[in-house]
Amino acid sequence: MNDNYAGKTTLISGGAGGIGLALAKEFGSLGMNVVIADIDMVALGTAENELKEAGLNVLACQLDVTDYQQWEQCIAAAQKEFGKLHMVVNNAGVGGIPGKIEDTDHATWRWVIDVNLMGVLYGTQAATPAIKAHGEGGWIINVASMAGMMGVPYSSAYAATKAAVVSMTESWAVELKPHNIHVSALCPAFVKTRIHESLRNKQEKYQTVPSKEKVIDKEKLKKNFNAAAALVESGISTELLAKRVVEALNSGQQYIFSHPNYRQATSYRAALIDGAFDDAQQSELVKHLIDDEIASL
Ligand SMILES: NC(=O)c1ccc[n+]([C@@H]2O[C@H](COP(=O)([O-])OP(=O)(O)OC[C@H]3O[C@@H](n4cnc5c(N)ncnc54)[C@H](O)[C@@H]3O)[C@@H](O)[C@H]2O)c1
Repeated sequence: MNDNYAGKTTLISGGAGGIGLALAKEFGSLGMNVVIADIDMVALGTAENELKEAGLNVLACQLDVTDYQQWEQCIAAAQKEFGKLHMVVNNAGVGGIPGKIEDTDHATWRWVIDVNLMGVLYGTQAATPAIKAHGEGGWIINVASMAGMMGVPYSSAYAATKAAVVSMTESWAVELKPHNIHVSALCPAFVKTRIHESLRNKQEKYQTVPSKEKVIDKEKLKKNFNAAAALVESGISTELLAKRVVEALNSGQQYIFSHPNYRQATSYRAALIDGAFDDAQQSELVKHLIDDEIASL
């Protein structure tokens, strides 16, 4: 199966740490050229050295995923260095700030939407022509989350963007299939990374001055972050997740799940939806629509 990957090129956003760096190592070990792109230049330099020392073909590129021009520059740099681009991993993401809906400011929502949703859109838009151009096909791997498969109380901005990533994946998978580009959504539950410390990556443009009425309860915020940290710490390793990604890609999965114990969450959601359809089917107001449809066949 390594023949699938060897000599091809992957570009991984948020590749300087966490899941992105583990994927860089895994795809590199399969013989891929690896472009790691990240907003954190210090971490990027360290990761580049580590990958080079492991004997991998690596290029490091500065990238804020909310900036489309920087995406174009990184893709051009990848093509210049390695010839062709075959895979983009839209991995860069931020966790936002856990808290009640009425306590979450709009700048934080905008930050989470721009990085987690627009960043994935920009990466796919910029990479698709480059992958289509050589006609060899390829992969777009969007890092969503189990949070995209279910709502997450006190983290609705994060969950909303991850649901959008799942939805974009479902649309693009059909759209790009004729070009032999496989699009998948990686949906892990907790993985041991620094996602709970995402504020370190919050750009200046999303910082807010708290309004006079809204006094931030720092103790409450600290408690929320500590709870998030404990969950992330309980997660699986990035190395295990990276191996699981390759395993699922090799069997052609569109949704990549790493935590089979979370199946209940999606089953519960599916059952709720099914029950709501039963309700519509019995509704005096709309049940005739089924008969109308059958009659029109
Ligand atoms: N850790 C988990 O439990 C978990 C679970 C499900 C999904 N995810 C998703 O996995 C992805 C990777 O996160 P992680 O857990 O490795 O977290 P992490 O914080 O350890 O790594 C995120 C990386 O993205 C980079 N980054 C942040 N903002 C960026 C931006 N604007 N432009 C470019 N790079 C940026 C960071 O510098 C860092 O290198 C995210 O999309 C996250 O939502 C994580």
